[in-house]
Amino acid sequence: MPSRTALWTWIKLLGLALAVLDHAPVAAQSNSPQTCPPGSDISPCVCQVKKNGLDILCEATDVQHITKAMSALKGKSPIIFYLKLRHNNLPKLQGFVFLALDIRHLTIHNSSLATIEETSLSSLGRGLTQLDVSQNQLMSVPSSALKNLHYLLILNLNHNRISQIHNRAFEGLDTLEILTIYENKLTFIEPDAFRGLDKKLKRLNLGGNDLTAVPQKALSMLDNLRKLELQENRIKTIKEGDFEGLENLDSLILAHNQLTEVPARVFFHLTLLNSLELEGNSISYIAKEAFEGLEENLQYLRLGDNNLHIIPSEALRPLHRLRHLDLRSNNISVISEDAFVGFGDSITFLNLQKNDIKVLPALVFENLNSLETLSIQNNKLTRIPEEVMEPIMDSLRVVDIMDNPLICSCELVWFPNLLRDLKNRDDEMTQKKRPMCTMQNEHREYYVQNMPLERMSCVGKKYHTSSLSGNGSTGRPGATLLSTVLAALVTGSTVIGYGRFVR
Ligand SMILES: *[C@@H]1O[C@H](CO)[C@@H](O)[C@H](O)[C@H]1NC(C)=O
Ligand SMILES: *[C@@H]1O[C@H](CO)[C@@H](O)[C@H](O)[C@H]1NC(C)=O
Ligand SMILES: *[C@@H]1O[C@H](CO)[C@@H](O)[C@H](O)[C@H]1NC(C)=O
Repeated sequence: MPSRTALWTWIKLLGLALAVLDHAPVAAQSNSPQTCPPGSDISPCVCQVKKNGLDILCEATDVQHITKAMSALKGKSPIIFYLKLRHNNLPKLQGFVFLALDIRHLTIHNSSLATIEETSLSSLGRGLTQLDVSQNQLMSVPSSALKNLHYLLILNLNHNRISQIHNRAFEGLDTLEILTIYENKLTFIEPDAFRGLDKKLKRLNLGGNDLTAVPQKALSMLDNLRKLELQENRIKTIKEGDFEGLENLDSLILAHNQLTEVPARVFFHLTLLNSLELEGNSISYIAKEAFEGLEENLQYLRLGDNNLHIIPSEALRPLHRLRHLDLRSNNISVISEDAFVGFGDSITFLNLQKNDIKVLPALVFENLNSLETLSIQNNKLTRIPEEVMEPIMDSLRVVDIMDNPLICSCELVWFPNLLRDLKNRDDEMTQKKRPMCTMQNEHREYYVQNMPLERMSCVGKKYHTSSLSGNGSTGRPGATLLSTVLAALVTGSTVIGYGRFVR
């Protein structure tokens, strides 16, 4: 036994020595043109010369053939910019298999890989920047094999069977910027799991796992993290302090978990957060102080596919930078007149599709001065009076009102007029969407843009005197009125629908 241990130690030392020796000439000749070995020497692998080095692909083969191909490459010490091993039978990555090779990007994908021997990757430490071992059978992070990869930038462990991340699992990967462990079986992450990644790690994907809580302790040391993905887990609750320490986070994805509420101050430490995705949960309650801390930077908020019954205006009000608000597929049936008061003027994109909205209060969009895209398709609206739309007519570029039980009426004439107006400004998508309305006395349906205006006696009628009465109920009636008149003049269309100024 002692002699075997001694031999093993000697082999290891030799390996390291060779690895060091091997890299010296590589660095020196890195500008000389690269050549592929003869095809027969590496078959069934194939080799191409690319600008930065060789690109080698081995598919649907086994350990013996891969080892043979690697040997054939060793003589010339080329730069192997990509080595891609896919759909192979490679349950174990043997020690020293890549010895004397300078590989920059290594992929071992869908190859039944379960074991990565410690010395298989250690010789690649000075050149390897990307390692992809996705879609394999790894049960844990192969820490000992990784620890010498001091220049690695990207590590992909997606689609394996990793159930836990132990303390210091990534120690040595001092330069790692992107770590992705999507679709594994993670249930537990030890508090010191990410030690060593604290200075450089920018993106971490823990999505598609079995986490039931935010691994707060482990995450708290990642103070340079920009993007954190926790989607498709089984997280039931989030609480104040869960994201403490992530001061530089820009994007947080918690979509498709089992959250039922967003409690007060849960994101309090994420003062630089720009984008928050919470869609696909069962959220029915959002505390008034839920988004405290996000006031200065949050621009994108996705709350679609939840169980909200109202627009959570109180919680949203402090978010004065909010641009994109997605509330699709909730259970919102009533919108109050002041739903967007206090935060609406920064919103450019508003999605309310697939809700249960029956009525739009007259002044509901009054504050949405920047709104460019409005989606209210798939609701229960029978009326969308011009009075409601008027405040957003100037900024609106895309509007979708499809799949509502609309009743044909003169008050809908804003829609064909807007289409014409948009068509003049630029060719937006709007023409492709052709909402329908029901003409009640004829018991038939029309496209809203083809309503039989001549039979609807819209001329001269007053539907909404409020905006003309000088009552001051809308912000800028004059501007909208003028643009609509201009649009009508430019297109040469009959202004027949606009009872309020056809006199
Ligand atoms: C994975 O590789 C096997 C061969 O080992 C192949 O039959 C299978 O189609 C591959 N799966 C995917 C998703 O590419
Ligand atoms: C939607 O809200 C209504 C009450 O407004 C409620 O009766 C219904 O159960 C809710 N639907 C879901 C899926 O929660
Ligand atoms: C302004 O409108 C309100 C209702 O919206 C109405 O009660 C009031 O009489 C109006 N005032 C004027 C001067 O028209």
